[in-house]
Amino acid sequence: MTRTIPAKQRKILVTSALPYANGSIHLGHLVEYIQTDIWVRFQKMQGHSCHYVCADDTHGTPIMLRAEKEGITPEQLIARVWQEHFDDFSAFHVNFDNYGSTNSNETREFAQGIYKKLKAENLIEVRSIEQFYDPVKNMFLPDRFIKGECPKCHAKDQYGDNCEACGAAYAPTELINPFSAVSGAKPELRNSDHYFFKLSDQRCQDFLRQWTRSDTLQAEASNKMQEWLGSADENKLSDWDISRDAPYFGFEIPDAPGKYFYVWLDAPVGYMGSFKQLCEKKGIAFDEYWKQDSDAELYHFIGKDILYFHALFWPAMLQHAGYRTPTKLFAHGFLTVNGEKMSKSRGTFITARSYVEHIKNTEYLRYYYAAKLNGSMEDLDLSLDDFVAKVNSDLIGKFINIASRTAGFISKKFDGKLAGKEQVSAAGNALMSSFIAASPVIASCYEDRDFGKAIREIMRLADQANEYVNDKAPWVLAKQEGQEAALQEACTVSLNLFRLLSLYLKPILPMLAKEVESFFNIDPLTWASAENLVLGHTINTYQHLMTRLDPKLIEGMVAANQESLQAAPQSHSPARHAEAQQHAIAPIAETISIDDFSKIDLRVAKIVNAEHVEGAEKLLKLTLDIGEEKPRTVFAGIKSAYDPEKLKGRMTVMVANLAPRKMKFGMSEGMVLAASGEAPGLFILSPDDGAQAGMRVK
Ligand code: MSP
Ligand code: ZN
Repeated sequence: MTRTIPAKQRKILVTSALPYANGSIHLGHLVEYIQTDIWVRFQKMQGHSCHYVCADDTHGTPIMLRAEKEGITPEQLIARVWQEHFDDFSAFHVNFDNYGSTNSNETREFAQGIYKKLKAENLIEVRSIEQFYDPVKNMFLPDRFIKGECPKCHAKDQYGDNCEACGAAYAPTELINPFSAVSGAKPELRNSDHYFFKLSDQRCQDFLRQWTRSDTLQAEASNKMQEWLGSADENKLSDWDISRDAPYFGFEIPDAPGKYFYVWLDAPVGYMGSFKQLCEKKGIAFDEYWKQDSDAELYHFIGKDILYFHALFWPAMLQHAGYRTPTKLFAHGFLTVNGEKMSKSRGTFITARSYVEHIKNTEYLRYYYAAKLNGSMEDLDLSLDDFVAKVNSDLIGKFINIASRTAGFISKKFDGKLAGKEQVSAAGNALMSSFIAASPVIASCYEDRDFGKAIREIMRLADQANEYVNDKAPWVLAKQEGQEAALQEACTVSLNLFRLLSLYLKPILPMLAKEVESFFNIDPLTWASAENLVLGHTINTYQHLMTRLDPKLIEGMVAANQESLQAAPQSHSPARHAEAQQHAIAPIAETISIDDFSKIDLRVAKIVNAEHVEGAEKLLKLTLDIGEEKPRTVFAGIKSAYDPEKLKGRMTVMVANLAPRKMKFGMSEGMVLAASGEAPGLFILSPDDGAQAGMRVK
């Protein structure tokens, strides 16, 4: 394979925003990662040196609390999510050169190093602030974990920063009857020292003003910045609170025991941490990319919602800690589905995983997003009908069709051999040359992230190629005697046009391009290989490259995303009961992980006593020994099936870590397991002989 190095090889480092480790990747996220991946693949095809790094964003209160809820450590939680995210991105062919985690030694060192430099520059200040504290959970509460009544419209159960009912923004202290969303307790105001990055310092203001003026932002983003910065005499920026008190899952602040960096302090530093890992693996010189006078280019792809962090805090941090600043930020808009915000109830909150399960081919979505992207911050819509129509008309109807209508003749009639150079007529050559000549135009669309324009250009060429095939009508030539040379030429020219279109689409459809390469028996397509026409060359038998997108698959995906919601508790609703009768066997519940299962602590229990409960129709009161000091009391709804006397002394299985429940007749401290179905009867479980009270069941 020959790799042509362009006249001037650029050194480029690219990042996408680091997805939070407390949720699944969904189609909204993918707008960003697919967009970035296309751009990176394009740069690599140009022969530039381009590294693409990303990582999971792992710190903060929500992740800490979620791990606690699941009964695992935050480290276990983020390891599991890392794998899920990594697999999802791989399925969509998002090809990171390194996918790390902000919870890494590399990121810790850079974050602490940057902090120390900012401190030495006198840009860190400690101030006491008053904040809501949860006296039950013993922690300060982030705004999102405080709820109460909206001070404006009096809607109940609103978050601490803004009201979802009327849209008002306020401070958590303004909420009426505030309560902790973690424990339900009434929060108290308490003081604590917080560390601030002094963004209001004149040096930061001056720097950011100058940074925005240089060519670092899209026009819309630059306008936002002017708004945030205000005019030179306004000083609108306020200092940024970068510390959080323990308990917090994050990095400790040097020389500040019990204080942790706020997640957004170390999140962008994760770009450096992940790149550092790549440098170690590949022998790349880190400093060449990050020192202040670096000649490498640095680009961050981000959503418009996180512009503030990337356009203000991040460059100011880098600048004053002695690092280079980003060359440019590429911000994009938000995804809507069928013209509306993604919604769980409409089934349009679609995870990457469910797309893969239902539709499989992820290049359809890459193509559709590319067709919609134009390098601006506008929102983009995934219209599901349009998605099907566009994939089928463009990819199958226009593009794949060129090969499927011509390739067969080459294998059947010419032993797989394409016509030689001298066999191609002037008209055929002119057409192929015009396709090659389109290369710089398409390249500049990619460079500008106007992928929609690139696709329009490519489809215009595809139309021309189809006209050529229609004019030549190889299926007619194939039936006429003495037209072999004409047939071979027509198919050869068509297939060369197809090869060029595949090359131009390769950043978007990398897997398809790979199959095209092996069909043609050629080296991986690069931008410089446009000119290498395949003439007098033997190709492989054509295998169908892509099938039509069946709209039923989309329906299935949307229905599944709705179903998963309806499958939730309501097990006793009449509708569900009727359904169960029809099926006799109730449907198996949603899949859970082994971690989910192991949260349930099942124990072998000895029934030391069983008795009737006065006034209870269904309950028996059981006294269970599971090897603890004191036996447990459990009220079980098994009166209809068991005589208490016969239960005494039996072994069974109980859920030992179920939250105790106060019942009319007393506290129930667990649950015994029993089988039941549509057929009458209720059957408690018993372990095999030999099992001892207290043994764990797993
Ligand atoms: N963890 C932060 C980013 C830290 S970067 C140092 C974060 N994570 S996120 O998971 O919420 O979002 C990751 C990226 O996906 C962001 O750039 C965000 O804008 C983008 N998107 C999330 N939902 C989106 C849509 N519905 N549509 C388009 N992009 C979206 O923010
Ligand atoms: Zn309100």
